[in-house]
Amino acid sequence: MTDYTPTKDDKFSFGLWTVGWQGVDVFGGAIRPPLDPVESVHRLAELGAAAVTFHDDDLVPDDATREATLERFTKALAETGMAVEMATTNLFSAPVFKDGGLTANDRTVRRYAIAKVLRNIDLAAELGAKTYVLWGGREGSESGGTKDVQAALARYKEGLDVLCGYVRDKGYDIRFALEPKPNEPRGDILLPTIGHALAFINELEEPDRVGLNPEIGHEEMAGLNFAQGISQALWHDKLFHIDLNGQHGPRFDQDLRFGAGNLRGAFWTVDAMLGAGSGKAYDGYVHFDYKPPRTEDIEGVWETARGCMRNYLILRDKVQAFRADPEVAEALEAARVGELATPTLGEGESLEDLRAEKFDPEALGERGLQFERLDQLAMEHLLGVR
Ligand code: GCO
Ligand code: MN
Ligand code: MN
Repeated sequence: MTDYTPTKDDKFSFGLWTVGWQGVDVFGGAIRPPLDPVESVHRLAELGAAAVTFHDDDLVPDDATREATLERFTKALAETGMAVEMATTNLFSAPVFKDGGLTANDRTVRRYAIAKVLRNIDLAAELGAKTYVLWGGREGSESGGTKDVQAALARYKEGLDVLCGYVRDKGYDIRFALEPKPNEPRGDILLPTIGHALAFINELEEPDRVGLNPEIGHEEMAGLNFAQGISQALWHDKLFHIDLNGQHGPRFDQDLRFGAGNLRGAFWTVDAMLGAGSGKAYDGYVHFDYKPPRTEDIEGVWETARGCMRNYLILRDKVQAFRADPEVAEALEAARVGELATPTLGEGESLEDLRAEKFDPEALGERGLQFERLDQLAMEHLLGVR
């Protein structure tokens, strides 16, 4: 039995903007003082995290302090053994991006956005990040006529193609991960779900260099099942990165700590990340993207960071126990779950043979599937009574 204390081998990672969130929302201003990224690196390392991630603006102001800030930051990384595993660009906060970055109607804004991303990709490469996330929070619209969606997608593709070409020419070991979200801050955001983003990637010049960074809350805001979404991303070999957090169904983006909100969804999310028994597993960093609620002071912030990691480890334990339980094996068998891995047609079998087969649809229809027994077992593992 473990006490659920994380170690670097668990590969936990946090955005600097998560613990650093000062609590500014649409109804109120900051309730916590700014947090020094150096302090975040040290505290997260003490708590057992392995890495941090950042937006350009979280870390390096574009002013005379840039070099000194980077020096202090890299010193903190060296002192703690923490990695920078992912970086991203803030293309959403500054007024210039009010109509988006890569898909702004204004061409000059788009050109500035690409230049801003390129600059931060250089820094990402320097700091050793292997994943570069693009969250297009402002790429979208509030009203139909203001955005030519087909042209916007063409410009999105152009932007991604330029960025992929740059990384290739520079020889950087970096892959891009698109982060879907249906709405907020825009009324409607382009590439709103995992499925939209997967389809878009097929249109790019270098589809192999681009995958996904799905976030629990973003899919659940749209009423979608996150475990199913990331399972499909894994099936396409596109789960390059992940944003774990908590959400209570379709409403505003809550960004709760991982495990809060939809707890059953979190159980199946961890199961899907581990390959759901026999499938492909996620092997990247376990990244948390959440916002410590405004009720918390800085000690409460560290409590939420600890909670994210602890909840993941507890759920991992529960999922592994569920998958190892002989009664679960029996229930899976009874529910014919494994049978789905058998191809529907036999090898070399002709369609004539298939059509000649005598079926008894009535008897098949009468057969109970015993799914509830299996789900109850999962529930009991989650509730800690097995
Ligand atoms: C959100 C988003 C952001 C992005 C991050 C990366 O909560 O709506 O998840 O947190 O993930 O800013 O650009
Ligand atoms: Mn979010
Ligand atoms: Mn996110």
